[in-house]
Amino acid sequence: MIFDILTIFPNYFKSPLDESLLRKAMEKGILSIRIHDLRQFALDRHRMMDDYPYGGGRGMIMKPEPVIRAVEEIKAQYPEGRTILLTPQGERFHQGLARELSTHRHWILICGRYEGLDDRIRESVVDREISIGDYVLNGGEIAALVIIEATCRYLPGFLGDGKAVEEDSFSSGLLEYPQFTRPPIYRGLAVPEVLLSGNHAAIERWRRQESLRRTLQRRPDLLEKANLTEEDRAFLAEIRKEETRFPKELPEN
Ligand code: 6GU
Repeated sequence: MIFDILTIFPNYFKSPLDESLLRKAMEKGILSIRIHDLRQFALDRHRMMDDYPYGGGRGMIMKPEPVIRAVEEIKAQYPEGRTILLTPQGERFHQGLARELSTHRHWILICGRYEGLDDRIRESVVDREISIGDYVLNGGEIAALVIIEATCRYLPGFLGDGKAVEEDSFSSGLLEYPQFTRPPIYRGLAVPEVLLSGNHAAIERWRRQESLRRTLQRRPDLLEKANLTEEDRAFLAEIRKEETRFPKELPEN
């Protein structure tokens, strides 16, 4: 898989790409990430990347020429590259989108900066626009890293254990069950008995139920789309009933 990243802060990516599984993936040859300094594509002597907004107003706007030239240069070499603009105005990123992006071989990521980009960039070279959440960052660099990392987890050979990504929170549509490791008792807190039992069927059932419980408590919105069995639904009905019988005491105010 190939990512071309277009940014005015190329050094920003040094450490995140030099550590961790991303680097291993690049060494294994399953991932290639190329960082392009947008300033190198600026036309004028001062390599200006931004300018004042037409119509007035606060802040500076990313000029169209350097970004469009950069994308065109990459596409001339790799016509299959598709372009993503990182912007808070884009479609909200989620696990399903990570999986979808992993099925295309080559993405060009444009990291927006300043108060905005000249809209002709979007019109002429952008295939899709993605946001990583409802908050504003100074630029798209962190968003690009988020998207790359989440997407690469779907590449065959990226994770040591090929199955793991399907067991993550969100892949199943549910939050993950609680996990424990040794010691069995720590500061008086015991690991749930069933996990020490060696009874795999009971462990599977407990994990499924705790996933459901966590999702109901923390992200009930996820349950609407999750793939639930009859047994899952019965369990959820049971804990909902308990909750009405023994409501958790809420703090006053
Ligand atoms: Cl992709 N860019 C910026 N600047 N802010 C964001 C974002 C992207 N996603 C969420 N906030």
